[in-house]
Amino acid sequence: MKIVTIVGARPQFIKASALSREIKNHSDIHEILVHTGQHFDENMSDIFFKEMDIPKPIYNLDIHSLTHGAMTGRMLEAIENVLMIERPDFVLVYGDTNSTLAGALAAKKMHIPVAHVEAGLRSFNMLMPEEINRILTDRISDILFCPTAEAIDNLQHEGYDFFPATIVNSGDVMYDAALYYKQKAATESHILEDINIKPGKYILATIHRQENTDNYERLTGIIAAFNEINSELRVIVPMHPRTKKLLHQKEMHTDFTIIDPVGYLDMIKLTSNAACIMTDSGGLQKEAYFFGKYCLTLRDQTEWVELVEGGFNTLTGADKASILKAYHDINVDEIKFDKPLYGDGKASLKIIKALKSFSK
Ligand code: UD1
Ligand code: UDP
Repeated sequence: MKIVTIVGARPQFIKASALSREIKNHSDIHEILVHTGQHFDENMSDIFFKEMDIPKPIYNLDIHSLTHGAMTGRMLEAIENVLMIERPDFVLVYGDTNSTLAGALAAKKMHIPVAHVEAGLRSFNMLMPEEINRILTDRISDILFCPTAEAIDNLQHEGYDFFPATIVNSGDVMYDAALYYKQKAATESHILEDINIKPGKYILATIHRQENTDNYERLTGIIAAFNEINSELRVIVPMHPRTKKLLHQKEMHTDFTIIDPVGYLDMIKLTSNAACIMTDSGGLQKEAYFFGKYCLTLRDQTEWVELVEGGFNTLTGADKASILKAYHDINVDEIKFDKPLYGDGKASLKIIKALKSFSK
């Protein structure tokens, strides 16, 4: 079986690491990685391939830093060229980025079956580029690998039981990755010493979503909250290049600690030793749960609703007062982070088995 896997953005490298590792155990599967180039800085891309032992992409399309239409359009054309050469049995896409949609659309138009990993998630906010990408990708996918029970419900509500698509409850490949790299991160990462912080004595925060960075009011609300909280407990922000550019452009004042984006091992070390997490990231909300940390989500909706419903996560929006209130209300005494919300850590194996039986 030949699979062409499309990746392009940081969270996709992490997801692909889990599945690519499992594929190596199956001699009857040949995977070809295509990197669209969407993320391209060394610490947004190469570092993950090196640290996580992800196979080197056979194609790097070098498409990035464009508007949504231009980026998706150029990727569509370039991926189609690759697929004409490779003619795979499946195209596999992850998540909800422009690379995801371009990969799925290029394949579907060529009648190549599409497998979508992390299918069925919804924020119900059509202003988010991710929501558009995931809805369209789901609709043209042949196999939908859902990470949560909620994701399956979402698809069923949208009538997917009547569509010619197979829905699989696979669990979350990010959980596979977190379990696999946990020990390695504990021994190999020296990030706490490097930036001179002590376990439990800092908050780890990230922010990069368009809905926050490109809205001045929201961005100033979040930055003001970080500045104020930092006077009580250090706030450490590995900063996404998108946010860095905007803070620079708007000449915003920051008191908290900004560091460059870090690799996955450093990120796991930072997450597992933080007092709590504040983020608008999708992946980091779940990693907070995997490592038993309370998360404040700096958005108005989340796709990972089971975290909010289970009392592990608060949606704060981007208003300074709401973030401060949620921060001061955190009480983790009674919380047990032990529900199997994201499967059993064997999502990758389930995905491979389903692909094999689908192709028979
Ligand atoms: C993309 C995804 C988002 C995902 C995020 C993960 C889309 C629509 N958005 O957002 O869903 O959560 O990745 O991190 O696909 N940049 C650099 N260096 C890099 C990468 C990006 O300088 O290595 C700059 C780009 O030049 C651009 C900005 O960051 O100016 C935004 O990059 P882009 O890929 O458009 O979107 P992200 O915000 O990264
Ligand atoms: N991450 C990382 N280094 C960083 C920031 C994030 O390795 O400096 C990891 C994080 O642990 C998670 C993934 O990147 O596994 C999440 O990606 P991101 O927040 O960029 O995108 P999202 O999940 O919101 O789409």
